[in-house]
Amino acid sequence: MFMEGKEKLGGKLALVTGAARGIGRSHALRLAHLGADIVINDIGLESYKEFGEKISAPTVVDEVSALGVKCIGIEADVSNKNQVEVMFKNVLDEFGHIDILINNAGGLVGEVFQSFASSVSEKDLRATIDRNLMGTIFCCQEATEPMKTQGWGRIVNTASQAALQAQQGGVYASYGVAKAGVIAYTRYLAQELAPYGITVNCIAPAYVSTHRLEQKVFSIPGWKEQYLAQIALGRMAEPDDISKVVEFLVTDLGDYVTGQCLSVCGGVIKF
Ligand SMILES: NC(=O)c1ccc[n+]([C@@H]2O[C@H](COP(=O)([O-])OP(=O)(O)OC[C@H]3O[C@@H](n4cnc5c(N)ncnc54)[C@H](O)[C@@H]3O)[C@@H](O)[C@H]2O)c1
Repeated sequence: MFMEGKEKLGGKLALVTGAARGIGRSHALRLAHLGADIVINDIGLESYKEFGEKISAPTVVDEVSALGVKCIGIEADVSNKNQVEVMFKNVLDEFGHIDILINNAGGLVGEVFQSFASSVSEKDLRATIDRNLMGTIFCCQEATEPMKTQGWGRIVNTASQAALQAQQGGVYASYGVAKAGVIAYTRYLAQELAPYGITVNCIAPAYVSTHRLEQKVFSIPGWKEQYLAQIALGRMAEPDDISKVVEFLVTDLGDYVTGQCLSVCGGVIKF
């Protein structure tokens, strides 16, 4: 049987972390298009303003709700276990179930040229691991019991090409280490939860053209040109290129896929 449009995720509840801008916001919009009710989590629900990202309504919650699904926003820091516990309690109180968890919140903490393996500060390293790895683990742990009880769940974590190969010159080491942890954690959790009808996968994008990236990374002279020359498909990824793969993993199309790390990188040779 082939499912279409809002049938695909109708009746499901998806929690997307770090969804107030960039790739996470794109995931939330795509899953809402497919009929899922949405929880927008972010450490700051107005983070879209920081790099001038334009949204189509006064808030991200409003623009998702405009797609005809129920949507709420929850401000919480995913690297804080207590805040994650409270968030999941609120989600279950409000919706009674959680079906899809997209762990998207993440990113390098600190400056690109201070992220080297030999010299990254303890503070930046711990903060990067907290934001990317601990945040993912805390959310997965809270989602596990409700998903097990209902005998169905879809979890997608966010790694990076930086975890699969070292970037030229060694920048992003702290971030690569944290994201490599996300990949290993994903594989273990997938093994553990498969008997309960829960799939756990992760995606590994290369650079994605978000407002933040264009302003913070591609403002470094020569960086974008050098990177573009390495992409087989010859263009930067848009956020929705990544969200399409999330759609695959959380709908019936991905029913037989678990424990995998999918590269979404346009055939890039080096990150
Ligand atoms: N943009 C890229 O090129 C790229 C490439 C590979 C992987 N990724 C990964 O994709 C994900 C999204 O990237 P993006 O470029 O959209 O990032 P972004 O920085 O533009 O957006 C991340 C969002 O997460 C929120 N956030 C940060 N820390 C949080 C926390 N502790 N708790 C809750 N929310 C938090 C931020 O406020 C922000 O709204 C990240 O995990 C990132 O590492 C991005």
